[in-house]
Amino acid sequence: MIEAFAPGKCILFGEHAVVYGHPAVAMAIDQGVHVSIKKSEEWRVGGEKFDPSKHPHISYILHEIFSYDGEPLDIKIESQLFSAAGLGSSAALSNAIGAALHKMIKPNEELDIVKLAKLGHSAEAAVQEGRASPTDTAASALGGCVVVSGEPVKGTEHIFDTELITPEGKRSWSIFKSALPEKKEGIWLILGFTGESSPTGKMVAGVADLLSRVPSKKNEMDAINEITIKGLDALSRGDFEAVGLAMDECHKHLRNLNVSSDSLDRLVEAVGPYSLGAKMTGAGGGGCMVAISRDPQRVSEQIEIAGGKPMISRIGSKGVKII
Ligand code: MEV
Repeated sequence: MIEAFAPGKCILFGEHAVVYGHPAVAMAIDQGVHVSIKKSEEWRVGGEKFDPSKHPHISYILHEIFSYDGEPLDIKIESQLFSAAGLGSSAALSNAIGAALHKMIKPNEELDIVKLAKLGHSAEAAVQEGRASPTDTAASALGGCVVVSGEPVKGTEHIFDTELITPEGKRSWSIFKSALPEKKEGIWLILGFTGESSPTGKMVAGVADLLSRVPSKKNEMDAINEITIKGLDALSRGDFEAVGLAMDECHKHLRNLNVSSDSLDRLVEAVGPYSLGAKMTGAGGGGCMVAISRDPQRVSEQIEIAGGKPMISRIGSKGVKII
């Protein structure tokens, strides 16, 4: 049996804007997706007969990437992530499956993390009508703090470039890693799930529609761009107060793009007194918010009182691994 684990992620700054080439800052989180694969008499995924329409990422990776036509596989998936909640669960699944299949098909070849991140991205794009940034898959594959941008970003290490043909034209991104400050003990990320799932493809399409109907909304993208650069700078200096303020500001602009929701706003507001800052994270329209705080227990309590489900993570966990 072959096992692999890939972490989920949360976006601290730049979701949605990144689809249009602006930078985004994503952080791998402690929770993720664990996959085990073994050869079997019949195709099974998650204890049930494999239905490709229910598992488009798995189907794409098996057939389009690995051209797998070997014995049937029994694929078990254990996810600690709320699904369709903006935590990159499908990217983590793609990366974990990709890593495990790589080990099974090419046992003597070392896993190429960059290749894996690229294949995860093409799987995401294939099931999201061609609109997906490489943010989720890169953060889950590389771990730590990942910056995705159309342009070079000061103070980061360039890792790889990638591109995609989307319905709005060709998009190119560069992926960078940002070193995290040494002094980050006592600082936690707290994710709060609204309980409402949010399909990324639908939210991304909604923003595309808004921008074409109301061209001035492009200003929101530009504002998010500036906040992202400032927030990243604060993060690399270990100025978590400034990171929090930038997150608060980012949330306002995401609201103006109509991607927040009443339940997200409620959770973001509820954690205010105990956090340095908070915002929705990922596609929005439901899904999760993220707070940065020195008091994760209080923030978790506030999330529960406001009707959400909390999850606590360190800052910048490790990336995908074969176990
Ligand atoms: C989803 O986690 C983040 C979005 O920016 C979509 C993407 O980057 O593909 C909304």
